[in-house]
Amino acid sequence: MSAILPEDLFGSGVVAAPMAGGPSRPELAAAVGRAGGLGFLGGGYKSPAALAAELDAMDPSLPFGVNLFVPGAAQIDRDAVLAYRERLLPEAAAVGAEVPEPRWEDDDAYPAKLELLLGRVPAAVSFTFGTPRLDVVAALRKAGAFVLQTVTSPEEATVAAELGVDALVVQHPDAGGHSGAFLDLPPFSGTLPELVAAVRAAVVLPLVAAGGIGTHDDAAAARAAGASAVQLGTAFLRTPEAGTNPVLRAALADPRFERTAPTRAFSGKWARGLENGFMRRFPDAPEAYPVIHHLTGPLRAASVAAGSPERTNLWAGAGWRGAREETAADVVARFAV
Ligand SMILES: Cc1cc2nc3c(=O)[nH]c(=O)nc-3n(C[C@H](O)[C@H](O)[C@H](O)COP(=O)(O)O)c2cc1C
Repeated sequence: MSAILPEDLFGSGVVAAPMAGGPSRPELAAAVGRAGGLGFLGGGYKSPAALAAELDAMDPSLPFGVNLFVPGAAQIDRDAVLAYRERLLPEAAAVGAEVPEPRWEDDDAYPAKLELLLGRVPAAVSFTFGTPRLDVVAALRKAGAFVLQTVTSPEEATVAAELGVDALVVQHPDAGGHSGAFLDLPPFSGTLPELVAAVRAAVVLPLVAAGGIGTHDDAAAARAAGASAVQLGTAFLRTPEAGTNPVLRAALADPRFERTAPTRAFSGKWARGLENGFMRRFPDAPEAYPVIHHLTGPLRAASVAAGSPERTNLWAGAGWRGAREETAADVVARFAV
């Protein structure tokens, strides 16, 4: 097995992280690709039809990747969810929103999106939140896709390597947005270079380092530890090509936000964002993704519609101060090898 990434996909050594929920729109993926990076579409949350429309919008001559959320089979404590729902009622009322009844089943239309990608194969496909079946990895690779799996520990890397994927995205807890962890382990306690080195000792696969990279020095340290490329999310959020909502865009530049922190309050799954009042009022929430995600959806949308950062998820990595208002091509150039 080779530990080298294909040059035609990863030339500059910079990957724009898939960021579902708006930021990773086709304009961003295309701009990153034109600049010599690998752009990604975020397949999560959206319907298969919406994802198909994004595929239509891409220039077929430009390589890009598509990311999918793999649904989990976690046991959900329904009483804890219902109790959390009660606590959300005043938060929703404050912004004139409702809290819907819980939606207990939601597989993010994963099977239909997989079928779509097997018919219209992008250059790369990455998975997070769980692992695809062995036959899915084999089918995508046979169809010509380069398959990546997000891992957060050497243990997860070992599981992913056995699936036959082409490369791993090694995601550190400093990463903005949701953790891709799929084994029930404590978050890695060392630095990103230390995590890369630990994964490298466990598996022989090319590694793409992600999480908290805010400067070229951060990227260089991850590469020195053995990463063949770096994947950046937050660094692209302020680019004009990203579909970042205006409230998050403003918050990233607002000196009143002093730190990022991990939270389950918005979605029921650990994710890192700029710490706001909602996160402080709800230091924890039931482990129930995506049930909690749907419960908080209307109040988050109302907060954004009102132009307020108080009750919406402000996903950002620990290196957010390194995110500038600049073009996607400038970001690729700034973090290139
Ligand atoms: C707004 C936002 C949305 C994200 N959405 C996804 C996603 O849909 N799929 C995924 O695999 N990772 C997602 N991530 C995590 C990124 O893939 C990546 O791990 C992270 O951005 C790297 O850390 P950084 O933001 O500090 O650069 C998201 C991150 C952010 C900031």
